[in-house]
Amino acid sequence: MKILICGKGGSGKSTIAALLAKSMAKRGYQVLVMDSDESNFGLHRQLGVKLPEGFMNYFGGKKTMIERMFASMQKGEGGTVKIFDKRWTFSDIPEEYLMEKNGIKLLAIGKIHDFREGCACPMGALSREFLKNLELEDDEVVIVDTDAGIEHFGRGVEDGCDLIIAVVDPSYESLMLSKKINELGDSIEKPVYFVLNKVDNESKRVMLASLEKNKIAGIIPANDEVFKACLAGDELDLELVEIEELTEFLEGVKNDIRAK
Ligand SMILES: Nc1ncnc2c1ncn2[C@@H]1O[C@H](COP(=O)(O)OP(=O)(O)OP(=O)(O)O)[C@@H](O)[C@H]1O
Ligand SMILES: [Mg+2]
Repeated sequence: MKILICGKGGSGKSTIAALLAKSMAKRGYQVLVMDSDESNFGLHRQLGVKLPEGFMNYFGGKKTMIERMFASMQKGEGGTVKIFDKRWTFSDIPEEYLMEKNGIKLLAIGKIHDFREGCACPMGALSREFLKNLELEDDEVVIVDTDAGIEHFGRGVEDGCDLIIAVVDPSYESLMLSKKINELGDSIEKPVYFVLNKVDNESKRVMLASLEKNKIAGIIPANDEVFKACLAGDELDLELVEIEELTEFLEGVKNDIRAK
């Protein structure tokens, strides 16, 4: 199952991605976390590993990819670049682009490092094509951590995933964005679920009143230990009941998808 995690900036996408990955790995799943956020540098720390070399480099780097996209546009092919010639499995991913710990592999598409190096479009294209071409065994799970907002929908990254999780924090903007994500998911027939994050009783009440009940996959409270670990840039080495409940919910969704 390929799970894409998205939502407003700072809502807790990377935190939920890391906690979920750890929970699933402990249950015996082979977990690949895909960092497709070209800007932030926090997820690898939350997983307790170093940032791996950007996967984009395997395909010649960003400059090469941009040139190929331009060439395709000039030929009237709409800028689409064929990146993969065959279907891939986990074992096809070159080890030098992975960081691994406790049953979790981290793959990073690539980060923006230099002034005027160009936009992140090739990163979106690579994320999309990789997800579309990746074949999974039943015990394999991919968790994609995305950049803030909905630009990845514009780049079609969701094309290759099985379900979308919108992380919603207690803010009006986040609630509005989650509705937009829901619409976008519907338009491409991908299931969208909400994870409410950083909630207390009052915010939970307000948020539940504005979201479809049957789409709530999890409710994660504001947690002091999570906050402190995030501030220190430490690994998220803690188990939360609410994350275990989220994992169980997603296992149910996985079984439903498999039964279809
Ligand atoms: N459940 C939680 N309890 C307490 N604090 C949390 C929780 N989840 C996230 N945070 C806080 O929110 C901050 C942002 O979290 P995180 O980096 O996961 O968000 P994000 O959506 O990935 O952000 P970005 O859009 O920048 O990638 C963390 O640094 C942490 O302080
Ligand atoms: Mg993040």
